[in-house]
Amino acid sequence: MKKQKIDIFRCAGDIISALRPGILITTKVGDKLNSMTIGWGTLGVVWEKPIFIAYVRTCRFTHEMLHGNGEFTINVPVGDFPRKALGFLGSKSGRDMDKISAAGLTPVEPNVIGVPGLKEFPLTLECRVIYRQTQDEALLGDEEKSQFYSVEKGPHTAFYGEIVDAYLIEE
Ligand SMILES: Cc1cc2nc3c(=O)[nH]c(=O)nc-3n(C[C@H](O)[C@H](O)[C@H](O)COP(=O)(O)O)c2cc1C
Repeated sequence: MKKQKIDIFRCAGDIISALRPGILITTKVGDKLNSMTIGWGTLGVVWEKPIFIAYVRTCRFTHEMLHGNGEFTINVPVGDFPRKALGFLGSKSGRDMDKISAAGLTPVEPNVIGVPGLKEFPLTLECRVIYRQTQDEALLGDEEKSQFYSVEKGPHTAFYGEIVDAYLIEE
């Protein structure tokens, strides 16, 4: 499968626009591979490095996976793609099943890290976590606290992934 290198900052608008309907974060620990849908994310520069920050609730299986292996890929749809996968990967947990096989997605060998990309979500960022921070409830605004947080839901951890490679997967 061919990969075409991309300039992430030229593609930033496409990546950020895709967040609203949903993009994917993929993680791998040992043989276990898992993807979940994310709608929150930040693309920018920190410590003079290109960074994608993913906000993952502490209760997610993906959170556990990122503690097992601090690497992830960000998988952004381009053109036609299996839209149903966004709902499926955003409602089922990898604790209970192999979501990637169940959704019929195709892992693609990575270049730098150990976590694959996905053919059906071809714009790929390979990321290595260099910092993580779980939200301090005491510092949240009242509106955000009441709208997004409850005892059952818990806080998000911001995983700062240094973008070590970026490309478009082609047929
Ligand atoms: C459109 C959409 C956006 C979502 N965005 C996020 C997000 O940014 N952070 C998060 O923790 N969960 C988010 N979720 C929820 C997770 O995708 C969902 O809980 C998923 O089942 C967790 O999978 P896992 O247990 O395999 O990690 C989103 C769900 C949908 C449908």
